Amino acid sequence: MDLKHYMERCRASVDKQLLSLLPSKDMRPEKLHQAMHYSVFAGGKRIRPILMIASCEAVGGDISQVLPTACAMEMIHTYSLIHDDLPAMDDDNFRRGIATNHKVFGEDTAILAGDALLTQAFITLSAATTPITIDKQTQVLNIIATASGAAGMVGGQVIDMEAEGDVVDLDTVNYIHSHKTGALILASIQCGALIGGADKKAFTALTSFGQDAGLAFQIADDILDIEGNQQQLGKDIGSDQQRGKATYPAVMGVEKSRQRMEQLQRQAMDKLIHFGDNAEALRQISQYIINRSS
Ligand code: IPE
Ligand code: IPE
Ligand code: MG
Ligand code: MG
Ligand code: MG
Repeated sequence: MDLKHYMERCRASVDKQLLSLLPSKDMRPEKLHQAMHYSVFAGGKRIRPILMIASCEAVGGDISQVLPTACAMEMIHTYSLIHDDLPAMDDDNFRRGIATNHKVFGEDTAILAGDALLTQAFITLSAATTPITIDKQTQVLNIIATASGAAGMVGGQVIDMEAEGDVVDLDTVNYIHSHKTGALILASIQCGALIGGADKKAFTALTSFGQDAGLAFQIADDILDIEGNQQQLGKDIGSDQQRGKATYPAVMGVEKSRQRMEQLQRQAMDKLIHFGDNAEALRQISQYIINRSS
């Protein structure tokens, strides 16, 4: 399996579906819709939708079942990025290779574009046309809502901000990372598994895989903020150190962080041992997560 090809194929399907799920740019209120499109189609990696698709396939499901849910997840993720970049939060200027949403549309519209993307995700998830049973739809809604809110991403963002400038311990960084980033990654993998028809054993194994992969993903993000290439990364670098963020490198240095990330990746791979060939995409994505340059 060629990962690059696989990711491109998933991305094309996700982008096409996203376009049909978002309100059209020339519909009133145009400015809001343009701001939503601006950040969604700025060229993110689509790693959460891709993980959801790969997880669904790992248990024998197929992409068409999971596509609307995968798009909803990308809407929520994009909203989290728009808000994360606001002056009141990380105050960043570049994202996905272009100016941040608030730089182009103003803070007021950026906040509302984020709100609208979050809401649009739940319109998508709750739609009667969704290709999954009502029972699964309810479970998916619960998983994604929980992972996005106070018990998940939003909760992690709050502690991330509270901890700015503090000397933090590993427990706090693990809390921040597993919530602000890990929660949506884990939820993506769990929804893929659920929709694909995972039995209890497979769901548990993929949950454990998702926890390791999610933490590894944020450690890689921390390291890229120090060692990454701004052009390739498409976002500001050095901002973590500048703001005194609670990151893995701040707690244990870059080398130890890299070792921990690699250990998590090996641990994640072990969780896929019983899945055979169907999990090849998940295996390669977990490797990509720690080797990526963007
Ligand atoms: C960046 O996420 C923010 C984090 C949660 C670490 P991604 O690295 O997935 O960003 P995009 O979607 O590719 O822009
Ligand atoms: C962002 O973490 C997590 C969310 C957006 C929920 P970061 O603040 O580290 O993400 P980047 O580095 O700005 O992409
Ligand atoms: Mg942040
Ligand atoms: Mg940030
Ligand atoms: Mg970061």
